[in-house]
Amino acid sequence: MTSGAGPRLFEAASHAKLYSKFRPTYPKSVIQKILSFLLEKHSAPLELAVDIGCGSGQSSRSLTPHFKQVVGLDVSQVQISQAQSKSVEENLTYRQGSAEEIPFSDHSIDLITCAQSLHWFNADKFYKEASRTLKHQGCVAVYGYGVNLPYVPDEGIQTSMHQEYLKIYKDILGPHWDKRRYHVDNLYCNIQVPFRESKRDDSVVMEAVMSVDDMIGYIKTWSSYQTYIRMFPEKSDFLLKHRQKFLEIIQPISPSTPAEEIRFDVRGPIFILLGRNSVRP
Ligand SMILES: C[S@@+](CC[C@H](N)C(=O)[O-])C[C@H]1O[C@@H](n2cnc3c(N)ncnc32)[C@H](O)[C@@H]1O
Repeated sequence: MTSGAGPRLFEAASHAKLYSKFRPTYPKSVIQKILSFLLEKHSAPLELAVDIGCGSGQSSRSLTPHFKQVVGLDVSQVQISQAQSKSVEENLTYRQGSAEEIPFSDHSIDLITCAQSLHWFNADKFYKEASRTLKHQGCVAVYGYGVNLPYVPDEGIQTSMHQEYLKIYKDILGPHWDKRRYHVDNLYCNIQVPFRESKRDDSVVMEAVMSVDDMIGYIKTWSSYQTYIRMFPEKSDFLLKHRQKFLEIIQPISPSTPAEEIRFDVRGPIFILLGRNSVRP
């Protein structure tokens, strides 16, 4: 898939803060699917899970009820600092490190997760490291989500919301996505988990409830938005006019509620790729 590690697009402190505040969290069923695959052949106690490309910790926290110890690993120190500032779970720690040199000893990890992150790694080096560090029958779970779109109970309003949203996603920010974003748009369909036993699950949906301002905050977490405002600082407030447009579109859903307070569903497809390590110590 990728020949080198990706560009470092998650290094700004302001980006890490937005990430922590506005990125949607994964439904519990993602972890349930992963655990049920792991436990088919790997017996408890589950000692160690490592979440690689953990960002500000959204994907790491949900592992803590199931493992004695969870470590979130990210190449970006600002993301790690943001995750640490929010951390309350006693069995969860964060540290800086890379997917291509996983800082754990051979056959010491029960589960490695990569949420919305593998497309940034050098996948060949990562998988080599995963089979070195995973226990026999330990698993890797690579998952993420495609485009999240707003849903409202009026077809015409929904179409207008989608058009406005896709104008930002494709027309304005489209040229500023890194080429690796293609894998996310393609729901990782071209990505393999090169373990003898592997499977794919597309049955879970990402679901969040947002206001227009939450959605604008979420758009600001996109790496393409960050790239765009770095290239065109004079256009850094371009989302204001789209915010206004979204408010105008959504208002008829509930004419007596201030448009800023109207909340709506946001949904996107989730993909989960699972692999089991057959390498024995
Ligand atoms: C899109 S974020 C995903 C964050 C979080 N897992 C989530 O699901 O929201 C991708 C993260 O991968 C990290 N990353 C990129 N390349 C990496 C590498 N080679 N090793 C470890 N982390 C990496 C980035 O710093 C960033 O925090």
